[in-house]
Amino acid sequence: TKIEDQVLVIFGASGDLTMRKLIPAVFNLYKRGFLPQNYQVLGVSRTHYTDQEYQKLAVLENPHLPTLEKDELAVFAQHVRYQAIDTADITGYHTLKERLDNLFKECSISKNCIFYLSTPPSLYETIGANLSKVGLNKESDGWKRVIIEKPFGYDLASANALNERLLNCFQENQLYRIDHYLGKETVQNLLVTRFANSIFEPLWNRNYIQRVEITSAESVGVEKRGGYYDKSGAMRDMIQNHLLQLVALVAMEPPAKMDATSIRNEKDKVFQAIRPLTQEEIRKDVIRGQYMASTYKEEAMTGYREETGVAPESRTETFAAIKFFIDNWRWADVPFYIRTGKKLPTRVSEVVIHFKPNHHHLFSDKKLPNQQNILVFRIQPNEGILLKFGLKVPGTGVNVESVNMDFLYEDLSNTYVPEAYERLLLDCMQGDATLYARGDSVLKAWEFVDPILKAWKDDPSIPVYGYPAGTWGPENAMNMIEGEGLKWRNPCKN
Ligand code: BG6
Repeated sequence: TKIEDQVLVIFGASGDLTMRKLIPAVFNLYKRGFLPQNYQVLGVSRTHYTDQEYQKLAVLENPHLPTLEKDELAVFAQHVRYQAIDTADITGYHTLKERLDNLFKECSISKNCIFYLSTPPSLYETIGANLSKVGLNKESDGWKRVIIEKPFGYDLASANALNERLLNCFQENQLYRIDHYLGKETVQNLLVTRFANSIFEPLWNRNYIQRVEITSAESVGVEKRGGYYDKSGAMRDMIQNHLLQLVALVAMEPPAKMDATSIRNEKDKVFQAIRPLTQEEIRKDVIRGQYMASTYKEEAMTGYREETGVAPESRTETFAAIKFFIDNWRWADVPFYIRTGKKLPTRVSEVVIHFKPNHHHLFSDKKLPNQQNILVFRIQPNEGILLKFGLKVPGTGVNVESVNMDFLYEDLSNTYVPEAYERLLLDCMQGDATLYARGDSVLKAWEFVDPILKAWKDDPSIPVYGYPAGTWGPENAMNMIEGEGLKWRNPCKN
């Protein structure tokens, strides 16, 4: 598709996400020839910079850009401008509108705009409302789209309120709620693997699948984000959005078409079918933990409560794991296990499909429950797909060993794998919302996690287990997979 002329307005222009992800994403799109001739980025925030000062900060001297590519950066910098406004005050939006009108004229850009809200979430509503007050929501002379960063809400009530207020100012098809996991190449590949091949889908149901596991582990702690994280925790930071989005892609029915409406309708049906947890299940099937000061690989690791910005008595979880079910024809009685945490042994995200073992054991008198057929989607790192199956050990007798059939993305030499933000920005530039989260689904994901968060808040008897850095979380989470001898797949061992 031809990409139309447009301006990308970034609110939160000097913030970390802008410098680390957004500007590099736009620069890569520029380098790969995706930006139209008439294209401008307009950084907006409170601090006063001239265009030249901002170009220096965001482009020429941005450590997240290839600073050696001086010539290209210099040309790209011409596409970057800056406008200081007070985002909380309506007068700033009149200034912004004027500035945009001038830019449209000066650069012969039709009045198409993406407004990227990369600010603290408390400003989303205000920015949305103020944009609409000055008419920057109107599409009569060019489209207007808004990208909203996560977190979308703090709980169900606030997410609902935010959604309603945004919908008072914009149409749903103007709103792009970003979840960067959906932009990851390997996450999109979940759909392709399932629906472009004929061999997986017939097995993709309760008749053949014993359980589904999703792990998203990080080896780092909260780093410099203690202040934000302590009010958020793993449930809000990772599960409500990234992990539940993965669940929807794994569990959804085949869409009739590859378009935003069909795909998002199917995903929404999964969210509708996730069985809410009872109070008893919240105590039994949800486990939260917090990393403790410890020594890992001879290195002293700071405990979560000692991190900057974290309350010394904090009960915020840095690890969470949930077992739940999806009540529909395809998934009845198949447990889904999801877990995420910081300061775990390694950085890895993967989806693991465990197929049921054979009913009749011909080749071994031992049952090997963890060696049955497993399909692993490696989301990161070492992106790829792995299928485990039994093979005869060469030699006498008939002994069976589990071996790997492996595909690694890095084997596709010369293939450029775009960063999630790059892919998602390009989609929004083209008006494709397939890989963005729709409002109804975001709210349903909140509906699922909200009772857990409430129980944690209201009932101090629900434990927050400490776990030493470098382990897979609290011990009872490690042992939560039900069934004799069943365990989480250890992502460190192929
Ligand atoms: C973000 C969370 O959304 O995702 C962070 O706020 C987390 O806490 C990050 O570290 C993980 O993203 P990725 O792409 O590194 O897996």
